Parts: sequence; structure tokens; C-alpha cells
Amino acid sequence: MDSFILRGNIGFSQSPDELRLFADSFLVCHEGKCQGVFSRIPEKFRGLPLKDYGKSLIIPGLVDLHLHAPQFPFRGIGSDRELLDWLNTYTYPEEGKYSDLIYADKAYGIFVEELRKSATTRAVIYATIHREATLLLMDKLESSGLVTMAGKVNMDRNAPAYLTETTDSSIRETRRWLSEVAGKYQRTSPIITPRFIPSCTDELLGALGEISAEYSLPVQSHLSENLSEIDWVRGLVPSADTYGGAYEKFNLFGRDVPCVMAHCVHCSAAELALIKKNGVFIAHSPDSNTNLSSGIAPVNRYIRQGLRVGLASDLAGGADINMLRMMAEAIRASHLRWRLVDDELPALSFANVFYLATKGGGAFFGKVGSFEPDYEFDALVIDDSALVTPKELSLAERLERLPFLAGDRNIQAKFVSGQQLF
Ligand code: GUN
Ligand code: FE
Repeated sequence: MDSFILRGNIGFSQSPDELRLFADSFLVCHEGKCQGVFSRIPEKFRGLPLKDYGKSLIIPGLVDLHLHAPQFPFRGIGSDRELLDWLNTYTYPEEGKYSDLIYADKAYGIFVEELRKSATTRAVIYATIHREATLLLMDKLESSGLVTMAGKVNMDRNAPAYLTETTDSSIRETRRWLSEVAGKYQRTSPIITPRFIPSCTDELLGALGEISAEYSLPVQSHLSENLSEIDWVRGLVPSADTYGGAYEKFNLFGRDVPCVMAHCVHCSAAELALIKKNGVFIAHSPDSNTNLSSGIAPVNRYIRQGLRVGLASDLAGGADINMLRMMAEAIRASHLRWRLVDDELPALSFANVFYLATKGGGAFFGKVGSFEPDYEFDALVIDDSALVTPKELSLAERLERLPFLAGDRNIQAKFVSGQQLF
């Protein structure tokens, strides 16, 4: 594991409202762990190699808390439908193609290379129902140097025949997939992935809850994204008093293992109380929620209520994997919500979204997303000199404009767990 020092203009989140900024300072990595930020190199670190990034910015790597790898091919296409129509029209036909390993190899090869070059250092990823293609994706993710969780998707109802497993085969293939990945990777780990309640029978959900408990595996799914979806779930699981309660019923809602739920646009008070009680993570996906006309989640309220929230692209509901852009989408959506929906809830600040994209989502991976001592050393070096302006900018201003102006082309170097990817 690498030990070294980076020099540059450094910023990270202390809390949802507090950014810490250090002009021309030193960031120390010892054996993959952050040791802190210093204005002068402390005596005990004097021997470590120094990488001097001059005027460049250095921030924690960004965490994408929810995205669909197989949907990369149609990113940017299909925002003319709402969720349920969109799934049937665009998503399921594309995901069906991953039974073909030649297609999967090509598509996942492109996806993983784009993710490697992006601002994302860690991600929580959906694959498809196909075990072999999911393994292929995980092999490629492991080689990329990124740290990820990826899930073989489970679906045994309400989808076209080509994308529907029997209950038995869904359980059997999940167990086989878990045995095949056991001990195989250092950076890539499995996560239990019921697509959403409409895709899974009670019997399948029950079995997945048992598997998650048996292997101590985290869980990812979708929650309260779209009004028609929520109505549908009410009819499908009448014994649960909320959509989240339906997952809880099958031990798939963070009671014993970490759990992340994408969207949470239309959660009821009872659902939010359960989310808080169980420590469920919310993957806020503003780009997707705008594209699919799902709504605007009251994220600032979630932050004030002390819920665990991170940011997500939800590719390809979201049109892109650029997490800097997702920060801008979160800010803009919150402005519209404040103006059009509820002027009692303040819009998100830059500090808020910086936190969501780093320390907020990073917590799903442990001590991740900050430059405080003992955090995993995930860092981006951003050269913003191409974002020309005649104005003299403060360090705070240089960071603030990144979501609106920066992309892959401005990333000069990227580190994950102390390993330099480029
Ligand atoms: N709900 C169930 N499946 C999906 C999906 O693929 N994308 C989104 N955004 N929501 C879902
Ligand atoms: Fe999703």
C-alpha cells in the first residue's frame, strides 16, 4: 500500500454545512489511509515521496450511491416517459441483451472505462438478472481500481419473459453467484439487489432477506420514486403500511445489514421514521428524478432530520455518470422545489451537495469521503486552469464552480484507497 504526500489547494467536508479549505497545503497518505492536511510537512512524514500539484485543487473522490451499469448504452435517451413506461420501453429491452456475453463484454468494457476516467472513486451498482454477465462486470470493476459493490438483480414477476426468472432459479443463481465471487476480489463486493417490490414475489423477497442475513451482505433497492409505482406497491403488498415497510417485512430494510434505497422522492412520515430507525441510506438521484418526471426529493429536510443521505447518478434514469454534474442537478432541483413547492425548506447549498457527494455517500463504505485522519485515501486532483476567467477567484469560489463547469477532462489525477489510477 502506498505512502506519499500530495501538495495543492485542498478542500473537504467536515459536516453537511461545513467545508474545510486549505490553500497550498500537504495531504498525507500512509498505507492507503489519510493522515490529515498540514500547512507544513510534519517531521515524521518527512521521508515520504511528494507529488506537487501546484495550483490544482485536491478533493475527496466522489461516491455514486446508485447506478445501473447495463443502462449505460442508452444514457441521454428516453426521458419522454415516466418510470413504469420507461422501464418497459427502454430499460427492459436493453437489459435483456446481457444474456449475450459478447454484448455484455463490449458494453461493460466501455462502461467501466468511462467510470474509471470519471470523478467517481466508489459506486454501488446494479447489474442485470444474468449471473455470468454480472461476474464479467465485477471482473472488469476489480481491474479498474475503483472500489464498488455490485449486484446480480433479482426479478421474478411483472417483466417481459426474457427478463423474468422463476423464483427458484432467481434464488439458485443468486447463491451460485455468491459462491463464485466469495474471496475473489479485493475491491469489488456483492450486494443483494431485489430490483424493486413490483419485480419480486413475497417468496423471493423472503429468500433474499435470508441470504442477506446468512452472508451478512448489504442490500440495495428502489423506494418511493414515482406516484404510480407507490400505488402499485400498495396493492402488491397490502399487509405493509408503507413501501419501505414492504422491504422491512422481508428483512431487506437495514435492520441488521447496511441498506441503500434509491430516490425516496415521495416518502411518508412513517416511512422516514423507519428509514431513520434502521439507518437506511438514501441515494438522492436528482438528474433521474427530473428526467423521469418523478419529482423533487426534500433532501435538505432529510439532512436536517439526521438521515443518512448520499448522491447518485441513477444512470440511465440519470443521463450521465459525471458526479460533479449530479451536484449541480441537486442544487438546481432544490432551487425549483423551494420556489415552486415549499418555500419553508431552504435550497441546498454548495457545502450541502459537496457533503452528499463525498462524506454523506462515503459512509456507506465506512470511513470514506473526507480527509480527516484514518479515512480511506480517495482523492481527485482537479486542474481548473482550463476553466478560464479574468477574475481572481478564492479557493471557495474555485470549488463552487466545479459542479457547473468541470468534467473528466479536468481531472488530473485520481487515487482510490491510496492507489493512483491515473
Ligand atoms: N425502479 C425499478 N427499476 C428501476 C430502474 O432501472 N431505474 C430507476 N430509476 N428506477 C427503477
Ligand atoms: Fe435506479
